[in-house]
Amino acid sequence: MDELRLKLAIQKSGRLTDPSLDLLLRCGLKISRGKDQLMAYGENMPLDVLFVRDDDIPDLVQEDVCDLGLVGRNVLEEKRLELAARGHPARFQPVRTLDFGRCRLALAVPEGTAFEGPRTLRGKRIATTYPFLLENYLRERDVAAEIVTLSGAVEIAPRLGRADLICDLVSTGSTLQANHLREVETVLESHAVLIRTPLGLPPVKDEWVQRLLMRIDGVQQVRESKYIMLHAPRAALGEIRKLLPGSESPTIIPLEGFPDRVAIHAVCRENVFWETLESLKKAGASALLVLPVEKMLA
Ligand code: PRP
Ligand code: ZN
Repeated sequence: MDELRLKLAIQKSGRLTDPSLDLLLRCGLKISRGKDQLMAYGENMPLDVLFVRDDDIPDLVQEDVCDLGLVGRNVLEEKRLELAARGHPARFQPVRTLDFGRCRLALAVPEGTAFEGPRTLRGKRIATTYPFLLENYLRERDVAAEIVTLSGAVEIAPRLGRADLICDLVSTGSTLQANHLREVETVLESHAVLIRTPLGLPPVKDEWVQRLLMRIDGVQQVRESKYIMLHAPRAALGEIRKLLPGSESPTIIPLEGFPDRVAIHAVCRENVFWETLESLKKAGASALLVLPVEKMLA
């Protein structure tokens, strides 16, 4: 039955698309998707994925077309302010912070232009596709400037004489560089979030939301986690445990025929770098082995 299948909206093509699909794949979802198809059917979960413009994702949840969405905090907060300005409460809730889609909404001026803090903005024309976030930023700093709302290609507005500076998303910074713009202020730090409808769902759907959330937590923990195995002198145990990054209770195993040495196995919830291994070796460890963790369920 269709109404008992979850609907999740993700970005059709853009910065969030690949990491969103990768996350779903790691959560065990198998989808079949024809080329250019707008909706993909979850084959092994009652969950279908809709491919849409990222700016439409909050609306789809707001209007109860989708139950879930993967979207940037930038789009989410802009939409929340827009709804508030129209007197509507937002009907979407962020339920998970995701470890991808990191970027920032920032002010950038043409190279060679001076910038001495927000007061420099007084009376200036600022081009953006985020008018509500920008307005909020200006109001909080008590600066009156003109907001030029565009639907895209913000980075060329100064060259076209449509604006003095811009307020746009910056990820790698290459768009700014290519357009001879200099980043001067951060308006909002952003990353991807999972949003859901605040409405109650039928138990079957709700159960799958909970399962998906648990799997997402597992996937995100695993990405940074490593399983580390090593041999160490019993006497150096204290020092070695301190060197293991983010591991709570390592397993300590006696070594047959070596009463002074033990094997230590531990899950490290942080990346294990060469430097860590070198310090461990200095502390007397040997036979060091670092393995990726595939799945984790707390
Ligand atoms: C943003 C922004 C820039 C680009 C910056 O667009 O408008 O064009 O990304 O990225 P960079 O610093 O890595 O060069 P976005 O991907 O959000 O596209 P959209 O606005 O069409 O959704
Ligand atoms: Zn967009």
